[in-house]
Amino acid sequence: MSILRTKSIEQSIADTDEPEYQLKKNLTAVDLTVFGVGVVIGAGIFTLTGRAAATVSGPAIMISFLIAAVVCGLAALCYAEFASTVPVSGSAYTFSYASLGEVIAWIIGWDLLLELLLGASVVAQGWSTYAVVLLDQLGISWPAAIGPGGTVDVLAMLLVAVLATLVTIGIKESMRVNLVLVGLKVFIVLFVIIAGISYIKPANWSPFVPPAQATQGSEGLHQPLVQLLFGLEPTAFGVAGIFTGAALVFFAYIGFDVVATTAEEARNPQRDLPIGIIASLIICAVLYAAVSIVITGMVRYDQIDPKAALASAFTSVGKPGFATLISAGAVAGLTTVVLTLLIGASRVVFAMSRDHLLPPKLSAVHPRFKTPWVITILIGALTMLVTGLTPIGRLEEMVNIGTLSAFVLVSVGVIVLRQKRPDLPRAFRVPLMPFLPIASTLVCLYLMLNLPVDTWLRFLIWMALGFAIYFAYGRRKSRLATGETLSEMRRSLEKQPTE
Ligand code: ALA
Repeated sequence: MSILRTKSIEQSIADTDEPEYQLKKNLTAVDLTVFGVGVVIGAGIFTLTGRAAATVSGPAIMISFLIAAVVCGLAALCYAEFASTVPVSGSAYTFSYASLGEVIAWIIGWDLLLELLLGASVVAQGWSTYAVVLLDQLGISWPAAIGPGGTVDVLAMLLVAVLATLVTIGIKESMRVNLVLVGLKVFIVLFVIIAGISYIKPANWSPFVPPAQATQGSEGLHQPLVQLLFGLEPTAFGVAGIFTGAALVFFAYIGFDVVATTAEEARNPQRDLPIGIIASLIICAVLYAAVSIVITGMVRYDQIDPKAALASAFTSVGKPGFATLISAGAVAGLTTVVLTLLIGASRVVFAMSRDHLLPPKLSAVHPRFKTPWVITILIGALTMLVTGLTPIGRLEEMVNIGTLSAFVLVSVGVIVLRQKRPDLPRAFRVPLMPFLPIASTLVCLYLMLNLPVDTWLRFLIWMALGFAIYFAYGRRKSRLATGETLSEMRRSLEKQPTE
């Protein structure tokens, strides 16, 4: 019984045709792009811009954003090719099942769960932080013990409960709510750019790359793995600071890959998934670069507020009303991120359970709502616990390492699948094969090395737990192991319905 057995693409697609596992095919290219922008623009731009500019990059933070965009862009091209070849729910999990083998697919699914579930928890905590600030500006004070940083963050838990209910009721309905909130968020980001331009003082951009300086740095388990391995001196600013900044603001781009998890709900996935993935990444990269150049032009980098740079920049130029508007925008903006991450997490577990790597009862589709309701409720409950009970600021790097490892496997997988199945129709092809996926693998590994040692340790523990579950359950029970197929009917790729 090989743990590297692969599931054929044809079988993956045939499985999606089974009536009891069918999801509604509703989403268009525009829906998918909105979905992508909705999940990408979030805590990153509202909080990390200030932190990275003030502590490691200075005005060159704009370059950091562009570098992070290139890293994500390389991975996005690989995701786009996979999504156009294997238009099945489950994203990187499904892609690696078709190319690298079952045990790798399981581990990547396990990683994605880490990325999406913890991501939703982190952003819900960020949301409650902004919500408390906003409530305060409106004259309402929320008790500290049941707010962010308190004993239990009830506010964040409430948000997750409401959003998980929405996701259970139906994805089209969630998309409608998403559309309104994403519109509001993009409006706020454009507002920062346009309203901020007149307050720019070009002198603030000089020096654009502040000179490198030695810092205390982090030590022990919190130092980056690369520093421990090579005995590097910790520095801030300078050219190295631009790269440190890029590793930090990478978080701001996380989420575009989630578009691929909704493949089975797209009307024409082969064409629309690549559009959705790449368009949302480009839109966000342009907005991020513009926001960072405006903010560093408004406030000198060493005076930027690392916690709430966008709102504070306007308070500092005598526009506190604008600051309230921006906080309100952040509250709306972070809502869509949590919503989308919850959808992504439930779709990944849905795919894993449909393959019987997890108990099949989990992937039951609701007869009326046509959504994987059992799993959505379970994911919602778990996220509520994590967001309510974990201290703020501990989980971000875990999200990064989970995402980067998925990027690495998708980049390798795209090369493997081209070799194994050159015959498959590919609506989108990665250019410069195999150099581009190799470059993507290397840059992602480099960013992973820049994550702290304790994050690596926690990640390894999570992986060990995953392997234990696989060998105790999935290895024997998976559909590939039992030979049970979903349907006698197998459709070829050419006959894929596009409605
Ligand atoms: N990219 C998402 C954010 O910045 C995770 O909140």
